Amino acid sequence: MTTVFRKLLYLELVCLVFLLFSGRVKAAKKNVTIGKCCALDEILTYEQKCIKSYNSSWNLNVFYNGSLTPYKGKLPPKWVLKENFQPKCAKPVIDALSNRRFVPNMLGVALLVEYDQKITPSQYCIDYNYSLFCPNNSPDGEPSVLVKKCCGTDWIYSEREAKCISWKNSSYNIEVGPNTNLGIGFPICTGTNQVVAGKINQGQVLPNGTLWMNSSGVSIPAGNFCLEFILEQLDESASIITCQNYLPPVILPTSDEHDGLKFTIYPIGLAISAIFLAATLAAGSLLPASHHVLHWRCQTNYVACLLVGYVLLCITQVVGTTLTYSPCFII
Ligand SMILES: *[C@@H]1O[C@H](CO)[C@@H](O)[C@H](O)[C@H]1NC(C)=O
Ligand SMILES: *[C@@H]1O[C@H](CO)[C@@H](O)[C@H](O)[C@H]1NC(C)=O
Ligand SMILES: *[C@@H]1O[C@H](CO)[C@@H](O)[C@H](O)[C@H]1NC(C)=O
Ligand SMILES: *[C@@H]1O[C@H](CO)[C@@H](O)[C@H](O)[C@H]1NC(C)=O
Ligand SMILES: *[C@@H]1O[C@H](CO)[C@@H](O)[C@H](O)[C@H]1NC(C)=O
Ligand SMILES: *[C@@H]1O[C@H](CO)[C@@H](O)[C@H](O)[C@H]1NC(C)=O
Ligand SMILES: *[C@@H]1O[C@H](CO)[C@@H](O)[C@H](O)[C@H]1NC(C)=O
Repeated sequence: MTTVFRKLLYLELVCLVFLLFSGRVKAAKKNVTIGKCCALDEILTYEQKCIKSYNSSWNLNVFYNGSLTPYKGKLPPKWVLKENFQPKCAKPVIDALSNRRFVPNMLGVALLVEYDQKITPSQYCIDYNYSLFCPNNSPDGEPSVLVKKCCGTDWIYSEREAKCISWKNSSYNIEVGPNTNLGIGFPICTGTNQVVAGKINQGQVLPNGTLWMNSSGVSIPAGNFCLEFILEQLDESASIITCQNYLPPVILPTSDEHDGLKFTIYPIGLAISAIFLAATLAAGSLLPASHHVLHWRCQTNYVACLLVGYVLLCITQVVGTTLTYSPCFII
């Protein structure tokens, strides 16, 4: 559950850059006018009402210089707010900025991660807690929701290589329900790691694109997870890759006294055994008379194998969880 996808940071950035701008975006030179849904001394609520609020502050993530940059307490310098501006469409979508499904760049063009769309400032407004936007091609009714396959069709993820690899097999396609599109890309995690949060058969994607895992009670907003088959854990159910912050804190196995004692005694015992096995081998080699007796040859080989086994076991006990993939695999 806590496998860390360090190298994905690179991948996700490549993806975002590709999706958003096909290149780096510099700070705007001219002023950019952005709609503020309510007046400056008001705050937009989830019910899309403006209420008075004097002490609200901005907490927006802006795509800048190749990554998501948090703007705490302020907005990018060239942004000029137009108060009481709300986009016009039948059903604007309201979304908490903290979901990071709505990611503007410095020029004010926003990426709707969930719908895989770019929208211009005329199609949205922001407020302290929420953004309100009109997705493209939704003249009426619900816009279709996007569920992302991390690597895209005909690719799967290899945990060992920490990258997507080509994999053409129609058994490993992801079926999404009606009104749902399949997109590509990893979730954008700022300040946390990407983790595998289990298999999709342990949860379900709700009509609004939210992933709900009923066993753990975890719900992940659309755009903040992707589904992919993982080469090392291949079966008919895809894995869920999401940001650590959506999961309950991992309870590390507490190294209580019992376990502590166990992990101290095991390597010591193994080391002692290994020493005496080595002594047995040495004793055997010092008795030339016994070299050609079959019984002795068998015993010598047996003891040698046991010695190697104990030494390796002892090493794994001592290094514990600090062992990286390749040495662990070899051992
Ligand atoms: C940009 O906005 C700033 C602050 O609102 C203002 O002082 C400045 O005159 C504006 N510049 C242009 C070119 O509109
Ligand atoms: C806005 O967010 C802040 C911090 O999360 C919260 O305390 C406040 O109640 C929210 N206000 C509204 C109107 O949702
Ligand atoms: C806003 O915060 C300031 C101090 O940070 C406080 O003095 C003031 O009473 C607050 N105003 C409201 C309406 O809560
Ligand atoms: C852009 O990011 C790089 C590192 O990713 C950093 O060294 C550089 O200072 C940043 N530039 C600005 C203008 O923030
Ligand atoms: C696709 O995967 C399934 C299940 O692992 C396997 O039975 C099948 O042979 C594979 N097909 C191809 C063309 O590799
Ligand atoms: C999606 O729908 C579920 C249940 O219908 C709801 O609990 C959740 O808040 C919704 N999520 C968003 C982001 O609207
Ligand atoms: C979770 O949902 C699945 C299918 O919707 C159901 O079979 C399972 O019993 C549920 N588990 C819990 C703990 O509610």
